[in-house]
Amino acid sequence: MKLTIFAATGGIGRQLLEQAVAAGHDVTAVVRNPQRLSRQVRAVTADLAAADPALLESAVAGADAVLSCLGPRSASQAGIASRGTRAIVEAMQATGVRRIVVVSAAPISTVASPGRPRPPRHDPGDGFLMRNLLAPLTKAAFRKPYADLALMEDVLRDSGLDWTVLRPPRLTDKPLTGTYRTAYGHNLRRGLLVSRADVADLMLRVLDQPQTIKQAIGIAN
Ligand SMILES: NC(=O)c1ccc[n+]([C@@H]2O[C@H](COP(=O)([O-])OP(=O)(O)OC[C@H]3O[C@@H](n4cnc5c(N)ncnc54)[C@H](OP(=O)(O)O)[C@@H]3O)[C@@H](O)[C@H]2O)c1
Repeated sequence: MKLTIFAATGGIGRQLLEQAVAAGHDVTAVVRNPQRLSRQVRAVTADLAAADPALLESAVAGADAVLSCLGPRSASQAGIASRGTRAIVEAMQATGVRRIVVVSAAPISTVASPGRPRPPRHDPGDGFLMRNLLAPLTKAAFRKPYADLALMEDVLRDSGLDWTVLRPPRLTDKPLTGTYRTAYGHNLRRGLLVSRADVADLMLRVLDQPQTIKQAIGIAN
């Protein structure tokens, strides 16, 4: 497939780039600094905080799918996930590209946003400890990044595109297993961790699975 990968120099992005190239896909990488790319692929340099729409359109035009691992490098950069994803979506709408897969986070199922002002109080996949201790603590600690990711999900739901959102719990740098668990629309019981490599694996896998379109998918090792 012809794939455009945004944030291919990040933790998940690097894994995704390696796996996509190894699988024989034709990859265009949109990054802030192409010198940090681990592979020689077609590179487009763009800062998604203020990207030129024409440049993004040229990066996605003709792609079979767009994959984004975009997220803030620090809490102070929260806002980039929704802003950058909006720019990506607009480029796709302008060029007629329909399929997009992005990385969100497990707690977002219960985070309110303008498009989803009354989300469920608890995620049906979360157990007692997660509902009553861990989820409230992480949501308090990461309030801004989570609000940004919830808004990013709004942008996708409103886009009319064929989107899939992956909602991983805490990310690790452990190796690819390919044996992670997934669930449509909710988190996984005792699913506290998942490797970046496994998230990247699922990003590629869902491209062959039309049933994942317009779905938020929980993933955990
Ligand atoms: N950490 C966790 O445990 C966890 C858990 C669940 C979900 N998540 C979500 O998963 C996302 C991806 O995780 P990760 O470990 O791959 O994150 P990461 O290593 O911090 O990667 C973030 C990527 O976003 C890019 N980026 C940031 N601001 C940008 C901008 N203005 N323009 C263009 N690109 C920009 C970065 O580009 P550069 O390479 O140029 O910096 C980097 O490639 C996180 O951001 C978070 O939203 C994280």
